[in-house]
Amino acid sequence: MTSTVPFRMMFFILVLHVWFIQYVSPRKTYYQKHFKYFKHSRRSLASDDSGFLNIDSGAAEDYQDDLGRYFVTDRAYIDTGEVHPISSETRNVWPFFKNLRSFPNGTRNCYTVRTKEGKNVNYLITAFFYYGNYDGKNSYPVFDLHIGVTRLRTINTEQISFSDVVYFTTADSIDVCLVNINRGTPILSALQLRPLVTNSLYQTSPAKLLGLVNRYDCGATPFSNTMLFRYKDDVYDRVWEQNLPVNNTISSWTSTRSDFSIVYSEQPAATVLKTFVQPIQGYSGMTYTFSNIAKPTSEFSVYLYFAGTLQSSSQDQRRFTVTINGNRQGPFNSPEYMKTLNVYQNTSVRGNVQISIQATTDSKYTPILNALEIFVVIPLEESPSNPEDVTAMMKIKQTYGITEDSWQGDPCVPTNFSWSRLGCNSDNPPRIVSLNLSSSELMGDIIASLSNLKSLRVLDLSHNNLTGSIPDSLAELSSLEVLNLAGNKLEGSVPKSLLEKSQTGALNLSLYENPKLCYLNPCKHKKNKAITFAAVAVSTLLVAMVILIVCYRKSIWQKVISGFKEKWFCNSGIRRFTYEDLKTITNKFDNKKCLGEGGFGKVYLGEVKNGTQVTQVAVKLRSQKSTQGAKEFQNEVNNLMNVHHRNLVSLIGYCNDGDNMAVIYEYMAKGNLKQHISPDAVEVLDSWEKRLQIAVEVALGLKYLHEDRKTPIVHRDLKLSNILLSEKLEAKIADFGLSKAFSAETTTAEQRSDPSGPISVGYLDPEFGKTRQLDKKSDIYSFGVILLELITGKEAWIKASDNNSSIHLSELVTSLKELEEIIDSRMQGTYKTNSVWKTVNTAMTCIQKSPKDRKDMKWVLKELEEALNMEIGNCEGTTQSNSIDNSKAIVTSRPMGHETASERARTN
Ligand SMILES: *[C@@H]1O[C@H](CO)[C@@H](O)[C@H](O)[C@H]1NC(C)=O
Ligand SMILES: *[C@@H]1O[C@H](CO)[C@@H](O)[C@H](O)[C@H]1NC(C)=O
Ligand SMILES: *[C@@H]1O[C@H](CO)[C@@H](O)[C@H](O)[C@H]1NC(C)=O
Ligand SMILES: *[C@@H]1O[C@H](CO)[C@@H](O)[C@H](O)[C@H]1NC(C)=O
Ligand SMILES: *[C@@H]1O[C@H](CO)[C@@H](O)[C@H](O)[C@H]1NC(C)=O
Ligand SMILES: *[C@@H]1O[C@H](CO)[C@@H](O)[C@H](O)[C@H]1NC(C)=O
Ligand SMILES: *[C@@H]1O[C@H](CO)[C@@H](O)[C@H](O)[C@H]1NC(C)=O
Repeated sequence: MTSTVPFRMMFFILVLHVWFIQYVSPRKTYYQKHFKYFKHSRRSLASDDSGFLNIDSGAAEDYQDDLGRYFVTDRAYIDTGEVHPISSETRNVWPFFKNLRSFPNGTRNCYTVRTKEGKNVNYLITAFFYYGNYDGKNSYPVFDLHIGVTRLRTINTEQISFSDVVYFTTADSIDVCLVNINRGTPILSALQLRPLVTNSLYQTSPAKLLGLVNRYDCGATPFSNTMLFRYKDDVYDRVWEQNLPVNNTISSWTSTRSDFSIVYSEQPAATVLKTFVQPIQGYSGMTYTFSNIAKPTSEFSVYLYFAGTLQSSSQDQRRFTVTINGNRQGPFNSPEYMKTLNVYQNTSVRGNVQISIQATTDSKYTPILNALEIFVVIPLEESPSNPEDVTAMMKIKQTYGITEDSWQGDPCVPTNFSWSRLGCNSDNPPRIVSLNLSSSELMGDIIASLSNLKSLRVLDLSHNNLTGSIPDSLAELSSLEVLNLAGNKLEGSVPKSLLEKSQTGALNLSLYENPKLCYLNPCKHKKNKAITFAAVAVSTLLVAMVILIVCYRKSIWQKVISGFKEKWFCNSGIRRFTYEDLKTITNKFDNKKCLGEGGFGKVYLGEVKNGTQVTQVAVKLRSQKSTQGAKEFQNEVNNLMNVHHRNLVSLIGYCNDGDNMAVIYEYMAKGNLKQHISPDAVEVLDSWEKRLQIAVEVALGLKYLHEDRKTPIVHRDLKLSNILLSEKLEAKIADFGLSKAFSAETTTAEQRSDPSGPISVGYLDPEFGKTRQLDKKSDIYSFGVILLELITGKEAWIKASDNNSSIHLSELVTSLKELEEIIDSRMQGTYKTNSVWKTVNTAMTCIQKSPKDRKDMKWVLKELEEALNMEIGNCEGTTQSNSIDNSKAIVTSRPMGHETASERARTN
């Protein structure tokens, strides 16, 4: 005969009534009485030094609780959240409930526990939650609990709750994360970790978690049916529920209280085994049905424990079968006296578990059941990030003290919570491909862990306070495409391997604004104390000599100084050349190498040799007619020493030797933009995407001059012919910051007051007539005109057909309505309309008549980047991966039992 026990209120993971401590006489709690009763119970197999870890969230110091378990504070495992004591009225007996940690900031907050056992170990992890009205709001938070990268369940703190999971570690650390789902501030009271023995019954694999649904200490009802219990003699400190529904069963005790033999670790504590349930008179078996305890497709692992209560002579007089969801096992004889039989089964039937234990027909005694556990199997849908990357990121986070809210738990997974400032690929496991720690106030050296992110393609460490030298190991990152170290305090020379990669175009390397970095000449800094000492001595002597000589001959002094500078200017990466050097570089000013000539003088193509390495350069000689003196020239060059940006033509060196003054720039193989855009261009740039790319690059350079420097630089003469193109058609702005030195070329303000004048026609801010001043907004105007030229392929001033009048390009564009009329016909069809319109609108904002209506370069750059994205269709949809949906698994929750001390007293 069987009967079923209906389970109207079943929980995915059990949640029990709050058990209030007796407020009036807190010392004699029911709980304590209970344990007093069992104080002689033995605790076996596992002890506190076996890797067990009890973390009390929010505890001020470590302590030992009344079960003899050691609890540690959580400070070593988390660096976010706030500690709160719970309301004294709701103080619970379990000591770790006294305080909690709450997480008002950040979506995902994680405890990270480095495990002694390392990876590939099964752990039983228990998290405890007790709200206890700590914030006085009486509003129970609801949040998600994740283990590793897997969402385990939603925690509702309306009752004391705990969550048990068997987890197989794949890394050296375990993350337990609380995820804010906008239903209150997540909290945690305590965390318990137990490594399981290798032959443990609770086995799982890297692909699965076992989440506890129910765990019953059967028949222990004399005490209560609403409590959670922890027993001193339970090897794994499991939490047991005692209210297995009693229907056709009765609760009983074994006749003796002698100890049970514990033969395997998961065997329930003797305290648990001492009690059992049994069919009532007239029934030969028991049936339990657990309905809707998980998703219909879920798989379960069910563990049943039967203790031996019969002496060996009568063992075969209790025979029974166990049927779990229709799958029968047995018949079994009663186990040996004081031994335990474990029946274990995986089962998967529509979210239900039905257990039936029946006596066989020849059995004299009805069966007994001592303990019961049901776990749901939760498959891992995403694999955690590559463990090496995780280790490296942890080290980076720790070394630089990075406090980003999202930098918790796994760096890449789940995608919803992946760390800010980094990018991951979709490999399995995912790897980190970009890390952007620009402007993160990093201090100290560039650490080796960065080189352990082996799949890194983009590394941006710009604008920090990084010191020391650039490690060679960065060159070992074979996928690295962009390395930005600009704006730091790095010193020494740039590793050759990086320079080579950068020269072959494999690496996009930015090093500007590192005043002590030497990247043209290898700096021969020997770390030899004797030499350092010698150098100090020599330089002291030198200074003394200089002072002496100054008193006698100024000209000698100048020579010494310039020689001194020549040697040491290497530090800024900019070299000083003598006139003799210039001759060598330009092959004695070979006319065949003359690239052009202007009012300022001539420009030669030259070659700078540096060991075996030959760099092509452009040497711009200053006209002898220039009125500017050597000192002003030197001042202007000095100002340029720290101006480095990949979209500005780099200054390689200069010459200030007597009457001869020159600047030496990197050579730009593809000439200037005018040669590729103007109506009579031979090699026309006919791709809108490329033109827009160039516009973005120019904007980057100009934004750097205007916005990114302590002392902004106004270009004053921005025009198509001042934008140069590299071999790979990368745009760089030329001729900034030398307005006085090369005044013959850069039109003086006076000359330009007449827009029909011969030079820079059409680029001049119309406001100039009034203000007589050129500022950032004038550059923006000129840039707007350049944008219009890129769009239309026309020149800034357009002569009318009669050749007598002319019209400004902006007026022409304003007068046209159709894009087809505006856009350069040489780019037929190779553009997206919305991208061009956005650029036209951006240009129009730049050329607003009134400077205050013009936006700044930051805005302009953003608009152009968006236009470029429109053009290249870079708007990928993001795909969200599914996390496990356990929401349906939580069926109901019992109303909270507001038991008061007096009520409890009545119950007993
Ligand atoms: C006990 O079982 C009977 C049928 O076997 C059922 O009608 C009754 O509702 C059950 N009682 C409880 C409390 O579950
Ligand atoms: C949470 O953020 C607020 C504001 O940003 C800050 O003042 C507070 O200290 C943060 N709290 C924690 C625990 O980090
Ligand atoms: C039950 O499932 C676990 C985990 O999926 C597996 O390791 C074990 O071998 C299964 N046992 C049986 C009897 O199928
Ligand atoms: C890094 O982030 C900054 C802004 O935080 C951005 O300006 C920069 O372009 C980024 N670097 C890379 C390489 O994407
Ligand atoms: C670098 O450090 C100095 C002082 O040590 C500080 O004033 C400056 O703001 C820091 N710069 C950056 C970019 O963090
Ligand atoms: C170099 O990197 C910048 C971003 O830092 C990017 O805009 C530019 O396109 C890259 N250039 C090359 C040649 O890859
Ligand atoms: C990611 O976040 C969005 C919005 O916060 C949410 O709707 C979605 O379900 C989340 N996806 C996962 C996989 O958690």
